[in-house]
Amino acid sequence: MTNSEKISEAWWKETIVYQIYPRSFQDSNGDGIGDLRGIINRLDYISDLGVETLWLNPIFASPNDDNGYDISDYRKIMDEFGSMADFEELVEQCKNRNLRIILDLVLNHSSDEHYWFKEAQKSPESPYRDYYYWRKPNPDGTPPNNWVSYFAPSTWAYDENSNEYYLHIFSPKQPDLNWENPKVRQEIYDIIHYWMEKGVDGFRLDAFILISKHPDLLDIDEESLKHEASRFFGNGPRLHEFLHEMNREVISKYDMMTVGEGAGITAEEASLFVGENRKELHMIYHFDHMSLDRESGQFFKPKKFDLRDFKKIISDWDKCVLEGGWNAVFLGNHDFPRMLSRFGNDGIYRKESAKLLGMLLLTQRGTPFMFSGDEIGMTNVPWETLDKYRDIHVFDGYEKYIKGGGEGKEFLQNLKHTARDNARTPMQWDLSEYAGFSINEPWIDVNPNFEKINVEESLKDPHSILNFYKTLINIRKNNPSLIYGEYDDLFPDHPTLFVYARSRKEEVYLIILNFDDKGRHINLGPRIAKAKKCILSNYENPPILLEEKWWVRPWEAGLFYSTSL
Ligand code: NOJ
Repeated sequence: MTNSEKISEAWWKETIVYQIYPRSFQDSNGDGIGDLRGIINRLDYISDLGVETLWLNPIFASPNDDNGYDISDYRKIMDEFGSMADFEELVEQCKNRNLRIILDLVLNHSSDEHYWFKEAQKSPESPYRDYYYWRKPNPDGTPPNNWVSYFAPSTWAYDENSNEYYLHIFSPKQPDLNWENPKVRQEIYDIIHYWMEKGVDGFRLDAFILISKHPDLLDIDEESLKHEASRFFGNGPRLHEFLHEMNREVISKYDMMTVGEGAGITAEEASLFVGENRKELHMIYHFDHMSLDRESGQFFKPKKFDLRDFKKIISDWDKCVLEGGWNAVFLGNHDFPRMLSRFGNDGIYRKESAKLLGMLLLTQRGTPFMFSGDEIGMTNVPWETLDKYRDIHVFDGYEKYIKGGGEGKEFLQNLKHTARDNARTPMQWDLSEYAGFSINEPWIDVNPNFEKINVEESLKDPHSILNFYKTLINIRKNNPSLIYGEYDDLFPDHPTLFVYARSRKEEVYLIILNFDDKGRHINLGPRIAKAKKCILSNYENPPILLEEKWWVRPWEAGLFYSTSL
């Protein structure tokens, strides 16, 4: 038996996930903010695409300091998104279409407007005080340690009432929950039960590495603080114990999937979290490839990425599957700019490179997570002023950039390549005023390119990116070799070509991707050239015969089939 035949099969390994940022997907009541009814109205589109699972970013009650990642009531739907009745209808309508739903569980922090925090803040004697981290100031009044928050200068906010600080790794409105307290853990397990009973199929676990902290909350040296902060803030001694307990208490009780947001976790340790015998999570998605086009540790300083590093990361993470784990694969989501503008060419080769990236995503070993809008080739935004942006991360980033000696003008240019808001603009449905997203001005501007890039036009064009995705999704769903098959990078050292094989039993799929504006001859060698049958190409005139010496066109992507290599 080969390795790929030993992998146990599961629906969550075979499914294709479609991520929806509810605020930006479809507005149904004209308030300029996407909502659940909007999603319901678009379910036929989603199901026609062929995806099988939806991941919704947080839909719970929230003051929206960080667009729903600050939850004030975990059992209530955010007012702007609708009601519980809307949610129940969404679940039912999804079931009618064989679509599963996973929700976003923000388990490291709540909102400061959550009842727990409001009670905790009333007095150090409150039974909820220990739901959060409170510490006395240093003798000189400064915060208890030197941690720098992702969204603020410090991770500590001062509470005058008690002369103590509370910890918030994200914004001051996102106080960290204290997982050392068993009551907090039980609250989270109860929340999971609650939504599972409502009919969802699992959860994406937000920033889960942070739930266990070093008990002494020690200072971090300046260098580490810049680079892998989440490892130092979190990744504490009880992380595996907590995940294991959560699995035992709740995850194992359902046929569900969990996918952890694995920022800071390395390929070497991945299987400790997702190995089948570990009984922790089903999969995690790592961030290693997300920092390749940034200056080390600097979210707002873009640089050109090197495909060789990208390929190495993919191969390194694939080893986790050989160790009994499973991967989640993504190239973009609501926390990063559009994948096409980062890794493709969103200019003259927009269509070709969007299809190429789609092929990369859907032919990897791991559950693919598509981000809505990528299937029509949406791009970053060309905004020139700060007032266009909405994200707390941008405004905090601006202050830190200026304080660090950077220039405002430069920062604004960098935002076009780095800001999370690039991926949060409204879904581009049609040619109407706000791209069919809303009848009124949206909470964030529509990308001005919607007249060219939208669903309506894409549906009409048989060669559109959208139709390419549909074909690709169909191919993946019906070919277990593309799901479970071995992964072999055939040209790991080539700077612009990505050529890999996926094989299982007698079947081999060969994927050739040219990450370049230039065409070139490649010598595939006699072995690879045996894969003569082209199943899918991103050019209108696909290559018929794959020659040993092959001319690969700019951003060409080809999927070939062979019975052996
Ligand atoms: C990760 C989420 O994906 C991001 O959007 C959010 O800002 C932070 N976690 C804080 O919850």
